[in-house]
Parts: sequence; structure tokens; C-alpha cells
Amino acid sequence: MNTISEYIKTHKSRFIDELIDLLKIPSISADSAYENDVIKTADAIKDHLLTAGCDHVEIYETPGYPIVYGEKIIDSNLPTVLVYGHYDVQPPDPLDLWDSPPFEPVIKKTDLHPEGAIFARGACDDKGQMYMHVKALEYMVATNQLPCNVKFMIEGEEEVGSESLAWFVERNQDKLANDVILISDTGMIAKDVPSITTGLRGLSYVEVEVTGPNRDLHSGLYGGAVANPINILTKMITSLHDENNRITIPGFYDKVEELTQEERAEMAKAPFSLEDYKSALDINAVYGEEGYTTNERNSIRPTLDVNGIWGGYTGEGAKTVIASKAYAKISMRLVPNQDWNEITDLFKMHFESIAPDGVTVKVHPHHGGQGYVTPITSIGYQAAAKAYEETFGSTPIPQRSGGSIPIVSLFEKELKSKTILMGFGLNSDAIHSPNEHFGVWNYLKGIETIPWFYKHYTELMQD
Ligand code: BES
Ligand code: MN
Ligand code: MN
Repeated sequence: MNTISEYIKTHKSRFIDELIDLLKIPSISADSAYENDVIKTADAIKDHLLTAGCDHVEIYETPGYPIVYGEKIIDSNLPTVLVYGHYDVQPPDPLDLWDSPPFEPVIKKTDLHPEGAIFARGACDDKGQMYMHVKALEYMVATNQLPCNVKFMIEGEEEVGSESLAWFVERNQDKLANDVILISDTGMIAKDVPSITTGLRGLSYVEVEVTGPNRDLHSGLYGGAVANPINILTKMITSLHDENNRITIPGFYDKVEELTQEERAEMAKAPFSLEDYKSALDINAVYGEEGYTTNERNSIRPTLDVNGIWGGYTGEGAKTVIASKAYAKISMRLVPNQDWNEITDLFKMHFESIAPDGVTVKVHPHHGGQGYVTPITSIGYQAAAKAYEETFGSTPIPQRSGGSIPIVSLFEKELKSKTILMGFGLNSDAIHSPNEHFGVWNYLKGIETIPWFYKHYTELMQD
């Protein structure tokens, strides 16, 4: 297998060019104005999968965006790896904070990426990471080294809740049958500290609406005499955390998995510098739940955050007004054993109950999903660990991530298989933010490591 690095050397610039072409298509699933581009991206991926060596690729229509499915079945007695990824991206706004246009990819050197990084929306999340798998397949097929069967399932609605994928998976269990699911849509601790993601947080996302008087009012004539929905909303939101930054919704922590001191001590061994963390974000202190470290707060603890808040007058100058309505979007990140539907209900009940007289409150649940944890004893994890050892020269550290890929728990429920999360992104890649990028080194390292997973997985499965 030492030829993978040679293969990469020979084809490196084509690998980068192909990804750049994919990144030029603005496949923003949240904004219907980009519908044609999202569909165009699915078509492009179909072509790439065929070129890379899939025997059979199809675009499956769904109630939403299509799913690209491809496979190469070499022997039904051999194990089957199912690769999942997403070709949709987050909206790029705020546009004025990008140093170069989000859909005109450029390669720039940075301190962390002296080899260059590709700057574009979706570079890391998830076009770049998904495309590593397509190129790894190309290598294995071209050099006759694909050791097992492979299936690809690439969707276009991950960033908006994967509703159509859930629909598709429920209807296609036989087609999707596999021994292990492989995903690159997470990160690693650092370029010289390989890690495998063993946990994802769940999510409950809600929108709240507070209504006061039936119309916007003059803030002089009515101010002080009626409930101001914006004042009330902010007060209600503030009350959702106590002085220790714990969430005050009754029952919220009831099912939270508490880690043992041993498990926490194990976690604390992962290299981490609080000073670097603060300076990367230009903050003079971290903030969060009392009694937990930064890495615990963003992985094994649940959270509640306002993602957006609006109402009243926000235009230029001043307008003296009391708005009739105020709104906020709130996300709750959940940890193992918390059920997202249950948490959504608890939130709704509590938020409605704390509304004072003079306003009415509505809670609209959006999407959500369960969290996920995967054991480090599985064959899949062991194979992934061996793969990193081959290409990084050190054993990867298991790491629970704070992010969410809600569909992973559905995979386990519907397809009865474990997911291995081999992420090659870095926290500094600015996914979902302006100037998202993906290191060329990370991209190629992913392509280099993935074939080793197939090799070790197939071998371990046959032991
Ligand atoms: N790839 C991310 C999730 C992620 C990133 C997990 C980094 C771990 C490390 C995914 O595309 C994403 O953004 N998920 C959303 C949830 C989804 C329902 C919109 C998230 O985590 O906010
Ligand atoms: Mn993603
Ligand atoms: Mn994302």
C-alpha cells in the first residue's frame, strides 16, 4: 500500500482542481433560490463516482433534494463499507466578512497551513471531506486494491435537517445494507494529533415568538404601561440559565449521562491549551457551566444558546417604538440519553409557563436529532485507529465532538450498524463562518488514510 503516497503525488493537482470545481457550485440547501445549483452538484457527484470506479450510480429523487447513491460490489461474501457525506453547504452570509468570494475558491497559505488551504464555503464541511472518499476509491480501483464492497450515499439536506435522507433510509434498508458506516464530516484535534470522533451531540432547535400589544406602539405614549415583548423575551431568555450557567428548565438534566472521574480524567489527557483557545478567538476568558472544563462544556455537557434574536426597529437612526412582537431562535445541544423530542417538550412547557401576563408566547419546534456515542472496541474503530497509525505514525485519540450529525443515530436504528467518524478538519477551518477553508495537507492526508481503513477493516473482519 505504499503506493498511495505516490499516487497522490502524481495526481495531486487534479485532486485539488476537481474539488475546486465542485466548490464553485453554490449548493445552499437552506435557500430555495439555489435549488438548481443544489441539483447540479448532485449531478456532478454522480459523474465523479462513476469516473472513480463505481459500477452503478443513481440519483434518487426524494420529497426534497436528491440523494446520490453509488456502489461497487466486488464479492457479496466480503464486508461492505457505506460512505455517507453531504454535498449541500451552509449559506455564506455575512458576505462582507469574506476575504474572497465564498464560491470562487482560492488557495492561500496560512500559519497553520504552510502548504496552502482552499478557501470556499463547503471546503471542509463537507464537500472537501466527502470528496476525499471519492478520490480514495479512485486510487483503490485504479490500482486494483479495493479489498471489499463499497456503497456511497451523498445527500443534499444535511445542513437543514436531513429529512429526505431519513425518508430514503427507511425505504431502502436492503439496498443500504452494510457492515460499517464511514463518515468524514467532523474534525481532528490538530494536524500532528490524529483523533477519531466517538461522540456527537444531539440537537433540539426551536423558534419562539412573544406577542404583546396588537400593533407597534409609540414608546412615549405607551412605554412603561404595557409589556414590551423585546424586554420580556430577553428577560425570559436570561432566566434559562442560573448563576452557575446551568440550564433552569425543570427536568433538563434528568437523563444526562454523567461520566465517571476516570472517564473525565481520560478525556483530560487530550492535548489542549486554554491560552491558545482564547487567543484564537480573541477573548480574555472562557465562559460556561460551573464545574466543567472547556473541553467538557463543548462535548459531554448539554447547552442552550440563542442563535438569533429580532424585533422592533433595527434600521438606521432611531425610531421610538414598542414592537408588537419579538422572536428568537434557540438551539439546545444534547448529550447521550437525552431524547430530543422530550427536551423540546420540556422547553415548550417551561417557556410558556414563565411568560408573564401581558404577553402570549408561542414555541415552534424546528428540526432535531439524537446524540451518538460509539465504542472504541468495535472492529470499525480498531481499523480506523490502525489506518491513522499508518499515515500519522501515532495512535489516534478518541474524542467526543460538540457538533451534531443527527442522521447517524437513525443509521444505527434503521441499518443496525455503527458509524466511524474519521474527520480531517480543524476547529480553525471556520466551518459555517466566513472564510471557511480546508488545508491541502488535511485533504491529501484524508485521501491517504482512507484506503488503509478499507484494508485493515477487511482484514480484521476476516480474522
Ligand atoms: N459537519 C457538521 C457537524 C460537525 C462539525 C460535527 C464538526 C463535528 C465536528 C454538520 O454539517 C453540521 O453542521 N451539523 C449541524 C446540525 C444540522 C442538523 C444542521 C450542527 O452541528 O449544527
Ligand atoms: Mn457537515
Ligand atoms: Mn455543517
